[in-house]
Amino acid sequence: MSTQGRFITLEGVDGAGKSTHLGFVADWLRQQGREVVVTREPGGTPLGETLRELLLHREMDADTELLLMFAARRQHLAELILPALARGAWVVSDRFTDASYAYQCGGRGIAAERIAALEAWVQRGFAPDLTLLFDVPPEVAEARRSAARTADRFEREADSFFNRVRNAYLDRARAEPARIHVLDARQSIEALRTEIGQLLQGLA
Ligand code: TMP
Repeated sequence: MSTQGRFITLEGVDGAGKSTHLGFVADWLRQQGREVVVTREPGGTPLGETLRELLLHREMDADTELLLMFAARRQHLAELILPALARGAWVVSDRFTDASYAYQCGGRGIAAERIAALEAWVQRGFAPDLTLLFDVPPEVAEARRSAARTADRFEREADSFFNRVRNAYLDRARAEPARIHVLDARQSIEALRTEIGQLLQGLA
């Protein structure tokens, strides 16, 4: 068994159901005897959680939004993710940089080169070992969003915004098939867990 920590991220449009599976991933890894750190973006540190409140609830310019996402990410890496991986823990994050490409580039229309420049600055080549992309057709995600709690600033966006976000995620998966695994999130929870378990097994 490898003693090196790994970084796993979960992605998908709001309403795809990814957060339901976060606990399963963590429990599966713990059963293998791993130390597991579960976290999220934006957030994951006290400063990051303060930035999350602003990002989810305050109106702002699209570039400001992008910069705050990466400011929170830098703090997340420096304070939590990199130290955890260095001591051999596995880190499971509810969203990471693929979300910036999907939402700020796909959704808001910011040029991908700008995001790539921030990614290089903040991550210095660091990237997830495995990304689970929970994919559902737009109407399924929309139904799940409207059944959920009070909408935040992103969840209030139009269906067309989420279609662009979904397509940007799928484009990334096509460009990086070895890292990003697309899961059909319309499947039953049991079927998804079987598929996720197999992917985790492959990483162990
Ligand atoms: P969550 O609802 O999955 O916790 O994510 C919060 C929101 O933040 C979600 O609507 C997606 C958005 N987001 C971005 O727009 N860009 C990013 O880089 C990240 C990490 C999240």
